[in-house]
Amino acid sequence: MNLVILNFNILTLFPELFTSFLGESIVKRAIKSKKIQVNLINFRDFAKDKHHTVDDTPYGGGAGMVLKCEPIFDAFASINSRFKIQDSKLKTRTVFLTPQGKRLTQARVEKLARYNQLTLLCGHYEGVDQRVRDELIDEEISIGDYVLTGGELPAMVLIDAISRLQPGVLGKEDSHLQDSFTKALKRKKEYPHYTKPADFQGLKVPDILLSGNHAEIEKWRKSQLK
Ligand code: ADE
Repeated sequence: MNLVILNFNILTLFPELFTSFLGESIVKRAIKSKKIQVNLINFRDFAKDKHHTVDDTPYGGGAGMVLKCEPIFDAFASINSRFKIQDSKLKTRTVFLTPQGKRLTQARVEKLARYNQLTLLCGHYEGVDQRVRDELIDEEISIGDYVLTGGELPAMVLIDAISRLQPGVLGKEDSHLQDSFTKALKRKKEYPHYTKPADFQGLKVPDILLSGNHAEIEKWRKSQLK
């Protein structure tokens, strides 16, 4: 049996948002081949009152609602008992997705890709009780300077970017993507790519690429780098 390399725990009020993301393409394959594992945890399930309340008005007054401590602390505790990787040498980290967090970069993705267990908390509403941030969260991450309705899309961005770096997640046929993406990010230049058909509604592929002359093709590609 293959060992799971990276285990994601996602704490969200909207687990169904993840259904198609996890059920398609490279991420689906990574889960199937146990390169990654994703546990979706709805922290509303941990609210103890009969209305399953997860938020409340802020102490001190003001607009908006604040996510309460108890359901989130209880959800974290359940992760630790249900999913915790037993070996203490395995690395774990907790991340809160928020527009106030540190900006996600490829360098940060590469650092996070070295963990064995990543617990991602997706916020909603106005904010989360500060005690959650102080006690449970190692790192706060933003995917950009704009405000989304919740942390679910940012969590998917993070899972996607981290998963493709796990050994064996990109197959042989697409592993070059890893290289070219990273290079593109370092502002290395790219040449134009074409595939079949050679003539698409009159838009033609440059003749040189159809010539079979690899030295000339190489020269042409160098001349086209941008
Ligand atoms: N939640 C809402 N907006 C966000 C953003 N830009 N990045 C991360 N989490 C968020």
